[in-house]
Amino acid sequence: MSQTAIRSACLPSGQDVSFFEEKGYWVSPVIFSNEELERIKEHQDMVYRGQYELGREPVCNWLEGQDNPAALRKTDNSHWADGTLRQLALDPTVGAIAAKLMNADAIKLWHDQLLYKPARKSAKESANVGWHQDFSYWQCAQEPTLITAWVAFHDVDLSNGCMQMVPRSHKWGLLNVSDFFEQNMDSQKDQMDVPDGEELTTVPIIMKAGQVSFHHALTIHGSGANTSGEPRRSMAIHLMTGDTVYSGRPRGEGHFNAKMMAGRVGERFEGDAWPTLFAAKS
Ligand SMILES: [Fe+2]
Repeated sequence: MSQTAIRSACLPSGQDVSFFEEKGYWVSPVIFSNEELERIKEHQDMVYRGQYELGREPVCNWLEGQDNPAALRKTDNSHWADGTLRQLALDPTVGAIAAKLMNADAIKLWHDQLLYKPARKSAKESANVGWHQDFSYWQCAQEPTLITAWVAFHDVDLSNGCMQMVPRSHKWGLLNVSDFFEQNMDSQKDQMDVPDGEELTTVPIIMKAGQVSFHHALTIHGSGANTSGEPRRSMAIHLMTGDTVYSGRPRGEGHFNAKMMAGRVGERFEGDAWPTLFAAKS
């Protein structure tokens, strides 16, 4: 895989940007070919075997022979460990799309999250991702100037637990319910304080392999069970605009990005830990 140029045919139109601003999400055309995705999946498996070709461990990982095969596999910062996954996480087309959607001059990597939702073997098992807003986990950032690009490694629909979005929820502020690990998604919905005049609806994001969905850091999203018989693999590339600063909020101090700022409250997240995907030409 060698993508150094922006694939301009994949960039959002003005209408697409308006859709994102209104709904809080947008889905790109196919960006990654099947050949690229096959290679990415091979490298995903290397990471699960603990083979870190770049010589650095991810922040956290799921390891073959050690961790629960029925659980959702979540690896934070796989780009530290593997060159192919690093190239994916820093893809320039993904960066250029994020810049357009966020109306930003620069887009940097916040962190990546390699995901693997195993096929459910019995009704008792579940590897749901509960309804959540990413920004609730990123309180070390001052403002929600962040966006996630979710790369589908397979065709995805409700049968293999595709992502689902709550349209307009990025306009609702931080809500009382947000838990990535919660398995009972129906009770989460019942408890959610939806603002007056708004309605909680959910939209399944059905995509072809190689398409990328984008959602704002305040957009509520989650995903259900994978009943397809095959694993569902993806990468969530969490991105920030270049002016994102460290808040120093106590609630955000547990995040590894806060730790790497080492007390520099009010400063931008800048340096090798947060590589640039896109910078506008001046
Ligand atoms: Fe998320």
